[in-house]
Amino acid sequence: MFAREIVVVLSVLSAALCCVEYKDCESCAGSEHRVRFSMKSCEWCPLTLKCRTQGSVFANHCDRDLSVGAADLCGWIEEPRMKYDSQLAEELAKWSSLAYVDPRKLNKSSIQSAVDAQFNNSYQLVEFLMADCDWAGDENYCKAVVAKSESQNRIVVALEGTFSSYQSHGKDNRTYFTNMTTFSPTGGKILLYRKAAHDSLYPCVKSLLKELTTTMPTAEVMVTGHAFGGAQAQLMAAHMITNDVASRRNVHIYTFGSPRVGDKGFAYSYDRMADNSWRVTRRNDFMALGGARDVFPFCFHTRREVYYDYPGVMNSTTDYKICDSNEGEEGCLEDRADMERGVIAGNLYRYFVPNISEYMKNFMKAGNNTITKRRATCHTMPF
Ligand SMILES: *[C@@H]1O[C@H](CO)[C@@H](O)[C@H](O)[C@H]1NC(C)=O
Ligand SMILES: *[C@@H]1O[C@H](CO)[C@@H](O)[C@H](O)[C@H]1NC(C)=O
Ligand SMILES: *[C@@H]1O[C@H](CO)[C@@H](O)[C@H](O)[C@H]1NC(C)=O
Ligand SMILES: *[C@@H]1O[C@H](CO)[C@@H](O)[C@H](O)[C@H]1NC(C)=O
Ligand SMILES: *[C@@H]1O[C@H](CO)[C@@H](O)[C@H](O)[C@H]1NC(C)=O
Ligand SMILES: *[C@@H]1O[C@H](CO)[C@@H](O)[C@H](O)[C@H]1NC(C)=O
Ligand SMILES: *[C@@H]1O[C@H](CO)[C@@H](O)[C@H](O)[C@H]1NC(C)=O
Repeated sequence: MFAREIVVVLSVLSAALCCVEYKDCESCAGSEHRVRFSMKSCEWCPLTLKCRTQGSVFANHCDRDLSVGAADLCGWIEEPRMKYDSQLAEELAKWSSLAYVDPRKLNKSSIQSAVDAQFNNSYQLVEFLMADCDWAGDENYCKAVVAKSESQNRIVVALEGTFSSYQSHGKDNRTYFTNMTTFSPTGGKILLYRKAAHDSLYPCVKSLLKELTTTMPTAEVMVTGHAFGGAQAQLMAAHMITNDVASRRNVHIYTFGSPRVGDKGFAYSYDRMADNSWRVTRRNDFMALGGARDVFPFCFHTRREVYYDYPGVMNSTTDYKICDSNEGEEGCLEDRADMERGVIAGNLYRYFVPNISEYMKNFMKAGNNTITKRRATCHTMPF
């Protein structure tokens, strides 16, 4: 009789913590919380790192099927193999800038010279790849630049940001921007126009990368891009890993001001797959808030935001914060964003260089080059 009462008192005490008070997955998942006369389980949301009572609709953003309800499912994300490296970030921001140049209108030898000067004479350009993205407007190309460094045992794949006429003149632009479609390499859904761009460019990159990783099998593959190119970098990397074109261990993703790519299902499975993925953001970059939840309530950022709360052009010594949750965290972009877009428009270009879409072009001379058709639908300019 007495013992039974003690057990009841103890269990009331142990259930006294509300689910929201648990701050880590292990203590949250599997805990119970008394609601009136029944016990409810607590669930952990790996996207927001918050605990909630099962069935409650507030307190975090995880859908039911993405919530963790048992402590033994907690360790689902691998630690990145390499820590965030701000010097590498600066270098990859410049590679992202190179993806913006139009190789057809530049002197070819001046492109390689600029690469030599900017990257310590250690990289050889392999090819510019251009795939038809006509759905995005006439004569539009989705572009990637691929380079290798034998001395550093690295391959770089940099994806171009926003294309010229794409956002204003694209056919069916509204549904391309609002419809979601499945993305099988990860799971979850992504915005239709991201899928269309990816589908055009991926086969070109894949076949070139296969050739490169055959001769450099242990190379680290750095996949990078700015803004729209950052979204493409995430899709590209996930697909490479799924197809085993590059090993999961060796793929590193650095994006600069990437908008949201897909829904929570996409973010969840991308996060589990891409261990070495860094999503660099900066103060008042509205592009990095693209696919915003007020317009696309289903879109959600991927993990490992690296936030620079600095008003000027950051460099490799500037302070940054590595955010723990996917989005909505105090002291990270969304929390600090000034939505007065007129004031901040230029910030979208300010990643390690004053203007990421212009920087590399400044070191090159004008010229004329033709691109040739190779590998089915891919246009290429080999070096
Ligand atoms: C590119 O520039 C180099 C050196 O300035 C020059 O020798 C070469 O003719 C130029 N090539 C083209 C295709 O214009
Ligand atoms: C530049 O390259 C040289 C030789 O290839 C190397 O010793 C040096 O560490 C490199 N510097 C940087 C900053 O990467
Ligand atoms: C779609 O394109 C039309 C012009 O073709 C333009 O007026 C409209 O603003 C565009 N819509 C979006 C959402 O970009
Ligand atoms: C977008 O979705 C709507 C409604 O489901 C559909 O009618 C339309 O054809 C879709 N657009 C594209 C480009 O797939
Ligand atoms: C690097 O950024 C810091 C601000 O974080 C600034 O004070 C410093 O002058 C910058 N250094 C260079 C070389 O631009
Ligand atoms: C950067 O360059 C683009 C053109 O490539 C231009 O539209 C934009 O205004 C520039 N931004 C800044 C901040 O200079
Ligand atoms: C490129 O070719 C066009 C047409 O042949 C010519 O008008 C133009 O001057 C050339 N540009 C350069 C920089 O050589």
